Amino acid sequence: MAPYKVAIVGAGAVGASIAYALMLKDVASEILINDVVPEIVKGQVLDLSDVACVSSTKVKAATSQEVGQADIIVITAGAKQKDGEPRTDLIGRNYKILESVIGGMKPIKPEAIMLLVSNPVDILTEIAQKLSGLPQKQVFGSGTYLDSTRLRAKIADVLHVNAGSVHAYVLGEHGDSQFIAWGAASVAGKPMLEFPEIQKLDKEQVQADIARKALDIIKLKGATYYGIGACAADLCESIILDKQVVRPLSVFVPRLGCCLSMPAKFGYRGIEEIYEIPLHPAEEEQLQTSAQAIKKLTQSVV
Ligand code: LAC
Repeated sequence: MAPYKVAIVGAGAVGASIAYALMLKDVASEILINDVVPEIVKGQVLDLSDVACVSSTKVKAATSQEVGQADIIVITAGAKQKDGEPRTDLIGRNYKILESVIGGMKPIKPEAIMLLVSNPVDILTEIAQKLSGLPQKQVFGSGTYLDSTRLRAKIADVLHVNAGSVHAYVLGEHGDSQFIAWGAASVAGKPMLEFPEIQKLDKEQVQADIARKALDIIKLKGATYYGIGACAADLCESIILDKQVVRPLSVFVPRLGCCLSMPAKFGYRGIEEIYEIPLHPAEEEQLQTSAQAIKKLTQSVV
């Protein structure tokens, strides 16, 4: 396999969890760690280098210029949510950080894939698409992949099936206006809404619980990182192996005029297709509401 370099910008708990999960997958040749605080980079590199017992992926510190030449650039840098704080409150701080991070890594390798993880991820993805100068299909965000994972785990518990056999998406904003596309969800080809156990669920409550899960975790332990670590590492693996899998990712949707999560197929060239999922009228309304919320906030910063 060709050498494959993944750069991670931001060496906090999220960046380190992504690096750790990706090392365990053993698909990247090198992981480059970058942060404005040199000590944290040094510490994470030393700690992660001990994963060598089960991984041949090398890990090292990198300058911003080296980051710009990586095959995948994962951006986790930025302020994180505090207890009770919505992701959207981070926009002012994280917009400035993103500007300086992308400015510092230029020139960027023309074929690089840029994966946004910092929040609010939808708005930052759109900004990164503009600032990076990369083709739009090469810049996308982790979006509601993690929320969809949370939902599939919940449904798996209710139906007593493996979460991998649950086809269900949380779409829209990776934030408060996200919604569950119940109408298009299924298990074994059977529409989700036909399962008596699902009919009995309070769907508004499930949606609220999924949307709140990050805040519940933050209240208890200060931050979320393992879930996003696993999701982002999975996305990197799918890019490296050109898997052409479909995941709910934050992508620019022309008909909505902003970045938000829709099911998208991707591989090592980036996003290959965005699918228009069949939505119930009420779900389409929620999608529009989500787009409006994102656009309003985007306009307030750019
Ligand atoms: C979460 C962070 C990644 O949802 O936003 O855990």
